[in-house]
Amino acid sequence: MKGKKKIISLLLMSILTLVLWGCTSEPASKPGGDGKGKDNDLIVVGYAQVGAESDWRTANTVSFQETFVEENGYKLIFDDAQQKQENQIKAIRNFIQQDVDYIVLAPVVETGWETVLEEAKEAGIPVILSDRMIDVSDDSLYTAWVGGNFVKEGHDCVDWLAGYLEELGRADEEINIVTLQGTIGSSAQVGRTKGVEEKLPEHPNWNMLDKQTGEFTQSKGQEVMESFLKSYDDIDVVIAENDNMAFGAIDAIKAAGKDPGEDIIIIGFDAVKAAFEAMIAGDMNCSVECNPLHGPRVAEIIQKLEKGEEVEKTWYVDEGVFPASEAAKLIDSRPY
Ligand code: AHR
Repeated sequence: MKGKKKIISLLLMSILTLVLWGCTSEPASKPGGDGKGKDNDLIVVGYAQVGAESDWRTANTVSFQETFVEENGYKLIFDDAQQKQENQIKAIRNFIQQDVDYIVLAPVVETGWETVLEEAKEAGIPVILSDRMIDVSDDSLYTAWVGGNFVKEGHDCVDWLAGYLEELGRADEEINIVTLQGTIGSSAQVGRTKGVEEKLPEHPNWNMLDKQTGEFTQSKGQEVMESFLKSYDDIDVVIAENDNMAFGAIDAIKAAGKDPGEDIIIIGFDAVKAAFEAMIAGDMNCSVECNPLHGPRVAEIIQKLEKGEEVEKTWYVDEGVFPASEAAKLIDSRPY
């Protein structure tokens, strides 16, 4: 009888020890518990980036790489899609397979996202859109979007040009314009083209001679500008839907023996540092800002979601217009 009692009390002691050990040991996963192995206490973010087509894009990538670091509690899985939607779709499927905590998507184009975003939704992974927008009928396919107002940027471009022509005493002249468009179907292209076109009727003496895509790259911008210069000998203004295409246009204009910034007015979008340099050199007249520093903004959204807070669906970023006359004064304060 005595021996049996001893065995029972020993068993009870071990059970008690196990229960107490279970209560005091570290939790198996981070708060919110997802059991993701060695990255347990880091928030895992998969970023499906467009590519590396422009200075703006580089600044945007750096902004994410500097924000989503271990010291801030994150692990970033970065994918460069080389401007191809099919690569972004593959990247998102990989993120789903890896069971990341959040997917961030800077969509190359607006359409064609339903299927893959349904898959992310079924997997319970929130998708945050950054920079460009998507065109879907079901807006529950993404949690929030943060970026610039591309249509407003187009309006700002036209309003700046009108004021500048007035300053030059050319307000009533016939003005011939060509446009270097961004990637067709991307919201940066769709919005800027729309914004410009909406305002053109206010200026019946302006003619849009031509528009063609330069894919947001300097080399394609240069190539398209060369062909415009061969087709039209009376171009007054180039609207380049990003600064890098404006740099390509500047090279093409110089090669054709003309003076960019003087003979032909050059307007870009983004307001990257190199555009300020081109303005100071007298080659470019204006850049309409598009701010790429979305890393901290996306992190703010994620932190709110982690705390279970509601987040706004749409986050517009404030953006300015920078003419050549202010470039020298402002260049040192430009963060990108
Ligand atoms: O979507 C933002 C645009 O994409 C920027 O204007 C351009 O430089 C980039 O490629």
